[in-house]
Amino acid sequence: MASKITNWLDERTSWRQVWDAIFLRKVPKVNWLFTLGSASLFIALNQAITGILLTIYYVPTPDHAYDSVQYITTQVPLGWLIRGLHHWGASLMIIVVVLHMLRVIFLGAYKFPREVTWFTGVGLLLLVIGFGFTGYLLPWDQKAFWATTVGTRIAGTPPIIGDYLLRIIRGGTEISAVTLVRFFGTHVWVLPALLVILIGIHLYLVIKNGISAVPKKGM
Ligand code: HEM
Repeated sequence: MASKITNWLDERTSWRQVWDAIFLRKVPKVNWLFTLGSASLFIALNQAITGILLTIYYVPTPDHAYDSVQYITTQVPLGWLIRGLHHWGASLMIIVVVLHMLRVIFLGAYKFPREVTWFTGVGLLLLVIGFGFTGYLLPWDQKAFWATTVGTRIAGTPPIIGDYLLRIIRGGTEISAVTLVRFFGTHVWVLPALLVILIGIHLYLVIKNGISAVPKKGM
């Protein structure tokens, strides 16, 4: 019965071809360093699931942001765990993505024909940093407020465009309710949408070009 359904679907969608291309493709002999990309993907998934769960109780306003985070941590069943996974996952994500990038650099995997995979990787690194920067403000405690004050001030230092940039990021001259909502919107909608698109292109290229082999001595 099950094979009848899968055959019926395959005749109409060729899903087996896609499945084979993803899961049955040939890979050269590699080592554990080649798992760092998949580890980044796994943490991204963790961030998405725990992040969605956090939005059930989190309130992005100056009146309620801090209290809602305290409520999640101390009152919501397993809220401490969900918040902890999201909090530590954020730091781990940066570490693992940078390690993945170092593996790509040291094994020369950025070379032809994988330059575009590298470019999309650079975009992914910027997005991950963007997630960290926008997420840091959301607990709306002293550390969040002053770290964002400093971070946005740095963005305001370039000549000519600096002042304009600072106003756009803060949504005015000071850190305010507008900044909080702006950071929240960027953190939960803009960056995730861009991340899904870029990861899609990144993985398509990884599959299309195949994984690079470990370079041999003398190459
Ligand atoms: C959210 C972040 C990222 C995710 C989820 C991700 C995911 C992956 C996965 C699953 C692979 C295949 C397995 C592997 O080689 O480990 C891969 C390969 C690759 N990634 Fe990433 N990656 C990310 C960030 C980056 C960054 C920051 C760079 C470099 C700037 C990069 C450059 C590459 C390149 C060039 C390959 C091809 C490697 C090869 O063929 O040997 N990636 N990525």
